[in-house]
Amino acid sequence: MIEVFPTPDDVATAARDLVLNVVARAEPTNPVHIVLAGGSTPANLYKLLARVDGVRWENVHFWFGDERTVPGDHDDSNYKMAMETFLAEISAPEGNIHRMRGEDSPEEAAEAYAALIRSLVPHNDDGIPVFDLILLGMGDDGHTASLFPGTEALAEQSEIVVANEVPQQDTVRITLTYPVLNAARNVLFLVTGEGKAEALAAVMADDEDSPPAAGVQPHPGELRWYVDSAAASRLVTD
Ligand code: 6PG
Repeated sequence: MIEVFPTPDDVATAARDLVLNVVARAEPTNPVHIVLAGGSTPANLYKLLARVDGVRWENVHFWFGDERTVPGDHDDSNYKMAMETFLAEISAPEGNIHRMRGEDSPEEAAEAYAALIRSLVPHNDDGIPVFDLILLGMGDDGHTASLFPGTEALAEQSEIVVANEVPQQDTVRITLTYPVLNAARNVLFLVTGEGKAEALAAVMADDEDSPPAAGVQPHPGELRWYVDSAAASRLVTD
């Protein structure tokens, strides 16, 4: 389901309300597990969430959909962005914030993160961990998390976290894979700006040429796209 909002701020406000709905279900004995998106788009949302009073963040575990191969205090770190805009401002217990160790060997970091997820996140009948909510962004090439066009991780069907070589960025990234993205109860894409319009139209066309973000089709979970009118400007309205 795709919802088009006038501005990026409207997207962030709607996303805030969805996150709070998910968190409201959290109990001390039944925490919720939320995957945070990286990049810059989610920063607006994170800043809004940090300002909401009375939220029982102690019943929430925070995870990451992907990470750059840098230390957690590096300016490129998705963890650093989330800490500065959100997690450092709220009462989330440090033990509930799970970062991918970008400073380690990517393969080892991916393996360790997968083990950590499996130790804490309840799984479905197929043995795949089920996150309550996964937040995702999308690049102007249609990548999501660090599932970039033409990269090996797109074909991964058993590991839930992998190190993914991204030649177009001359780097290696650590990323969740389609099996765990598609097992989530809720997936919410946040996409804003004219620069994403072509990729978003390609995703919504959902044909064999669609970019990686089109591969996120949670079932039986809910898929939502919250986009602004600039990003939606190339969508075909029937
Ligand atoms: C990352 C993100 C990535 C991001 C898109 C969009 O590590 O960069 O996980 O998937 O969501 O690149 O980034 P922007 O929000 O900055 O456009």
